[in-house]
Amino acid sequence: MTANIPRQFFLKVEESKCQGHNRCYLICPELFDVDEYGTAKVIITGSIPIHLMGKAELAVQNCPELAISITEGLDSND
Ligand code: F3S
Repeated sequence: MTANIPRQFFLKVEESKCQGHNRCYLICPELFDVDEYGTAKVIITGSIPIHLMGKAELAVQNCPELAISITEGLDSND
């Protein structure tokens, strides 16, 4: 029998690419905020909650600067 390890996905904004279009925040304020300069920040710690994966993927697809990425990995608590 093999262990069923749930897949975990992490969200990242590359701030040097972000130009403040704010689409990410409009799509999913549960995952993003913007600072006073309009630069996006990820506001969750840890992996993306499963119920927000669709919105996270939509944010990636809608950032004109390709500043947002989703990577698969292991939680550092594992
Ligand atoms: Fe920046 Fe892209 Fe969001 S440019 S504010 S990460 S939509």
